[in-house]
Amino acid sequence: MDLTTKYLGLTLRSPLVASASPLTGTVGGVRRLAAAGVGAVVLPSLFEEQLKAEDERDAWLADAHANGHAEARGGYLPDPVLGNRPHQYLDLIKRAVDQAPIPVIASLNGVSPGGWTDYAWAIEQAGASAIELNVYYLPGDPLVPAREAERRYTEILTTVKAVVNIPVAVKLSPFFSSLGEMAVVLDHAGADGLVLFNRFMQTDIDPETFTVSTGFRLSTPGEASLPRSWIRLLRGKVRCSLAATTGVETWTDVAAYLLAGADAVMTTSALLRHGPAYATELINGLAVWMQRKGFATVADLRGLLSAEAGLAVPGRPGYLDAIEQATHAYGGSEVIS
Ligand SMILES: Cc1cc2nc3c(=O)[nH]c(=O)nc-3n(C[C@H](O)[C@H](O)[C@H](O)COP(=O)(O)O)c2cc1C
Repeated sequence: MDLTTKYLGLTLRSPLVASASPLTGTVGGVRRLAAAGVGAVVLPSLFEEQLKAEDERDAWLADAHANGHAEARGGYLPDPVLGNRPHQYLDLIKRAVDQAPIPVIASLNGVSPGGWTDYAWAIEQAGASAIELNVYYLPGDPLVPAREAERRYTEILTTVKAVVNIPVAVKLSPFFSSLGEMAVVLDHAGADGLVLFNRFMQTDIDPETFTVSTGFRLSTPGEASLPRSWIRLLRGKVRCSLAATTGVETWTDVAAYLLAGADAVMTTSALLRHGPAYATELINGLAVWMQRKGFATVADLRGLLSAEAGLAVPGRPGYLDAIEQATHAYGGSEVIS
């Protein structure tokens, strides 16, 4: 059984990838995931705010030094409030690369092109196999034109691509007027891969306590249908790799994403729920299913049910059929007739 796959031009021993999360934030975590069989890991994102904080700290130190009053302002030690996260991040990359026998993908998170390039270069020097750009941009200003919002993505991509030789993937949200066009534009702009889809931090309101809360919730398998539909549609329409992220809970979700056309299938929520060793269960389940269905390699099944493959393409009659079926299933026919 050959589970290898090509993603971003890299050969992965398995299509299952541990996406960015606290699980990949330590060398021990990366080693555990590698031991469980994942094909690659994506490290947690290094955030633009953290990079800016470091730049400000460096400017402060330079200024303090130039004015000869460093000691008066607390000496040359890094400001504990600003921290030294970027340096720790580069160190994590180096150690993860040394100790885990799988590609280590670094992740940069931000919304503006400026200031990323030095870090992208440093990430490559530290030994990362690729960079994932987690562009976390929700245009809250209602006057921002769609084209301007979209331009940020291509600007960030081309800025980073200009300074590194390693592959660069873009982790996208589904919130575009024409997601397909955005994917094609990024593909033409040089993206080596697209990761569908990012999950934004959500805001909620508690009417009892009048509080607004924000946070990440773990996903459910039902959330996979949106990214899966888009991977199915984009397969063959873009030259770059496609990775799935969101809603993997069992090996069936992994198999379905591969059939839709994903080159790699990422998981976080399932690993947070069940622990890193659960990756082995997902991979074994996939292998058993492949054997049962007579697939010798991942390449044999990838994209078999993509729109490009031409099987089960939904047309208008299919859509109406589906509505009718759902109406009957939920007893709505009496209400309608
Ligand atoms: C606690 C937590 C932390 C995360 N941190 C990051 C991050 O730093 N960068 C990133 O791109 N995605 C991050 N994600 C998103 C995951 O990488 C993944 O894309 C998302 O959870 C959907 O996949 P899943 O359904 O398998 O959980 C995080 C998710 C969780 C739950």
